Amino acid sequence: MAEPRENAGATGTTATAGGTPPPRAATLVVLRRLLQIAGVLARRTASGLSSACRARVRRGRTAGARSWLVGTIIELGPAFIKVAQMLSTRADLLPPHWCRALATLYDSGPPIPAEELEPVLARAFDPPIARELMARAAEPVASGSIACVYRTTLPDGADVAVKVRRPGIEDTLRVDMAIMRHAARLLAHLPPFRGVPVGQIIAQLTGAVYAQLDFVQERHNLALLRANLADHDSVRIPRVRDELCGDEVLVMEFIDDLRRRSPADMPEDERTQAVMRTLHAVYQMLFLDGLVHCDLHPGNLYLGPGSAVIVDAGFTVRLSQDAQDKFSSFFYYMSVGKGTACADVVLSTATSSPDTDTEGFRRDISALVAANTGVSAAEFDLVRFATQLFDIQRRYGLYADPQFVFPILSLLVLEGAVRDFAPRIDFQDEALPFLARAMISRTLSASRATERSARS
Ligand SMILES: Nc1ncnc2c1ncn2[C@@H]1O[C@H](COP(=O)(O)OP(=O)(O)O)[C@@H](O)[C@H]1O
Ligand SMILES: [Mg+2]
Repeated sequence: MAEPRENAGATGTTATAGGTPPPRAATLVVLRRLLQIAGVLARRTASGLSSACRARVRRGRTAGARSWLVGTIIELGPAFIKVAQMLSTRADLLPPHWCRALATLYDSGPPIPAEELEPVLARAFDPPIARELMARAAEPVASGSIACVYRTTLPDGADVAVKVRRPGIEDTLRVDMAIMRHAARLLAHLPPFRGVPVGQIIAQLTGAVYAQLDFVQERHNLALLRANLADHDSVRIPRVRDELCGDEVLVMEFIDDLRRRSPADMPEDERTQAVMRTLHAVYQMLFLDGLVHCDLHPGNLYLGPGSAVIVDAGFTVRLSQDAQDKFSSFFYYMSVGKGTACADVVLSTATSSPDTDTEGFRRDISALVAANTGVSAAEFDLVRFATQLFDIQRRYGLYADPQFVFPILSLLVLEGAVRDFAPRIDFQDEALPFLARAMISRTLSASRATERSARS
């Protein structure tokens, strides 16, 4: 297998690709799409207003507003659905009830029509493989808005999963994302958004969605994650068949029996082992490797008896060394109850204005850390902690660098599985050996650097 290429920069946070303005010749396409979007918004707003008038109580109106938003996003299509899904994980940007509402957006679509699939397969594979896959065209294993996954047997007998990018999806996303970025620039001038880095946020979100089109990067990330976690015997990541992959297709070993189990399907010790091993793998990504799978929801993480399977490296982030150090320090200070130090770490990663009340911020973060340090595993609630942390940030008008937020989000996505399958696991305690190794290796490399500069 070819050596995986190092992930350049931070997949999922790069803002360039999604922002490429459409070429001039495509202006008409953009205009037509703008009209379509305006039509959907006008129609949905009219029907939304009439239902709001009918809803007598305020609670009914709020619930109505959320379902109006979800319905509107679905009508607007895959780019909006994907961006909204990303936003649903950004507990640092939106209050929890909005995150929950957006998280209900499912990402599914019909299989790729046979006449569109055929040319992609003909470009990507030798005729025998393409023919075998065409025979499966109507029954993909999964069918999302960006890709479909098929199962087939290769001429060498290997059972593989083939992820095929939807033909034309790149154009759809490029146009819609350019529109979103322009809209964000306009929104940023409106009073409710003053001080909120709307443009930057939309650039991050659209960049992260756009990165999911990059199958070359995704397969490198999958291979890197697999190599990084080679010592974690119980956490399996599919092996990529590099020689068969291309820009539009990703071929990997098929992992059988991927199904969503419920806690009742496994005895408690096997559940706990499965979650513990996954958590250790995630700590390895966060504190030691700096390459983090940020999308470990139940469609990408399959817990089995004492083991786990991770798929889909489409939203994988390369943390800078600085972000890794800051996140480790934050985690460490939190576990020893140094609230002010935690606040300073957050402040050093955040966009603030001259009138930010940093003293008030330090005070509130200290109180939050004090309330959560040393509490028993059963009492420590990561979701509540992170929600309060993000809430304090928002109140003080601080928007943390996503490089700092992504590690927290990766843990938050995992927290659902921990809570359901092994609620007694101690998040803070389990992290300590990884934190210690990270700190030792940082100290060693710092002292090596000092020695080198003393010698030269
Ligand atoms: N290697 C694999 N073996 C078996 N099933 C897979 C494999 N990779 C993906 N799948 C199935 O296909 C689904 C979609 O694949 P995924 O890579 O998550 O695509 P998407 O980016 O659309 O979420 C997964 O949730 C899983 O059920
Ligand atoms: Mg997935």
